[in-house]
Amino acid sequence: MSMMNPDISLSSGIPDTEPERQYYYIEMARRHVASRSKEMGRPLTFCVTTFGCQMNARDSEKLRGILERIGYEEAAEDKADFVIYNTCTVRENANTRVYGRLGQLKPLKQKSPYMMIGLCGCMMQEPEVVERLKKSYRFVDLIFGTHNIYKLAELIVSRFESGSMVIDIWEDTDKIVEDLPNERKYAFKSGVNIMFGCNNFCSYCIVPYVRGRERSRAPEAIIREIRQLVADGVTEVMLLGQNVNSYGKTLDTPITFAALLEEIEKIEGLERIRFMTSHPKDLSDELIEVMGRSRKICRHLHLPVQSGSTDILKKMNRHYTKEQYLELVRKIRLAVPDISLTTDIIVGFPGETEEDFQETLDVVHKVRYDSAFTFLYSKRSGTPAAAMEDQVPEDVVKDRFDRLLGEVQKIAREVCAVHEGSIQRALVESVSEHDSTLVTGRLSNNLLVHFPGTEEMIGTYADVRLEECRGFYYIGSLEAGR
Ligand code: 5AD
Ligand code: SF4
Repeated sequence: MSMMNPDISLSSGIPDTEPERQYYYIEMARRHVASRSKEMGRPLTFCVTTFGCQMNARDSEKLRGILERIGYEEAAEDKADFVIYNTCTVRENANTRVYGRLGQLKPLKQKSPYMMIGLCGCMMQEPEVVERLKKSYRFVDLIFGTHNIYKLAELIVSRFESGSMVIDIWEDTDKIVEDLPNERKYAFKSGVNIMFGCNNFCSYCIVPYVRGRERSRAPEAIIREIRQLVADGVTEVMLLGQNVNSYGKTLDTPITFAALLEEIEKIEGLERIRFMTSHPKDLSDELIEVMGRSRKICRHLHLPVQSGSTDILKKMNRHYTKEQYLELVRKIRLAVPDISLTTDIIVGFPGETEEDFQETLDVVHKVRYDSAFTFLYSKRSGTPAAAMEDQVPEDVVKDRFDRLLGEVQKIAREVCAVHEGSIQRALVESVSEHDSTLVTGRLSNNLLVHFPGTEEMIGTYADVRLEECRGFYYIGSLEAGR
């Protein structure tokens, strides 16, 4: 379904292949921005605000890259001429936040007629959202989805030329457009999409509906991108996909995720490889083996369990039992003894009884996660779970949630403390927010350590003695002479 104003596409001389077409529109948008900027006597500014997961964060870098090419300069949201919200819709409260913030933008926009507001991302893929925006939020300028963010320049041109709200939402796509600009948040690390979409249809989850069917990037394109990133100074990559363990299955020449990792491992100059997210049902022995012998894959695995109850897992359409999950954890720990395990847990899925919840607590006690993201079940319309009977009363869910959180945090504190006194390599990411004499480094197992250092160290590796565990992070000291 494309509702874009077709004015511009009718002009001649527009390339019909990508990314060439988008570079053409970037040039056109540049002219519009330059002329408005001349009129206003200052550069035009933008702000992209990201909601949701790392996938969205990476998409936002692509939006920033295009906006900078067009001639916009980045600014704080309250000073920006063009505000874009890259939205999430995984839980209802993500949507509520966006409506709230839009309400706050309205008076700003009334004061400055040239201001533009763009909305994109997962929430826009829901037809009822777009209907509501069209009806009650007429001041929004640009609405697009998850499949066509690469078209930002084209949409901007369309907005400049039509002078009215531009809406372009695709239901799904099989297209992957490579080689567009992007503006990375960090110089030394980067997310790399390896696949888009999801085919799992967990019964609570809206993602397959808003991110479309699973499609993998060609391994050559991924390797080429990482080589380029390394040449630009990146030493750590985070491979991104909704379910990285099923990477490559739909390619013309299928390849496994483990095989892809082995190829990436060979890239000289690359020091660390992370990936996210792993679905337990597709985590292969081959992957465990590769992780066991790799020197670059970080000692961290995010393995969402969602529930510890086999009955609930079945209703969630997760395709594993409690016992299979625990067995997987056992195998991983055997191959990679020092691995840090993290997870996602949903509390209050329809039909969840106290006994089911006790099974979840049991998994938490048995696995002893380094950390866990806990969520209240949120009913997403259009998903099978939304139509299930036995929705659990709010007060019961809240009570379980609090009990779970207490356990998760207690265990995480204990697990974090086991590294106290050890010396580990950290990638320095920033000057500490709270104390400018300290820098913050990330360990292979994803924990953070704050230790004395200076801004120049950002992007370098340091061997750090983990002096003191402070709950979920460490205070450390630089290990001299190593
Ligand atoms: N309600 C609550 N949590 C959800 N998640 C996904 N869908 C829902 C929902 N409807 C959680 C899952 C997933 C994480 C990204 O968000 O735990 O792993
Ligand atoms: Fe939110 Fe899921 Fe979209 Fe990520 S993929 S932004 S978690 S809805």
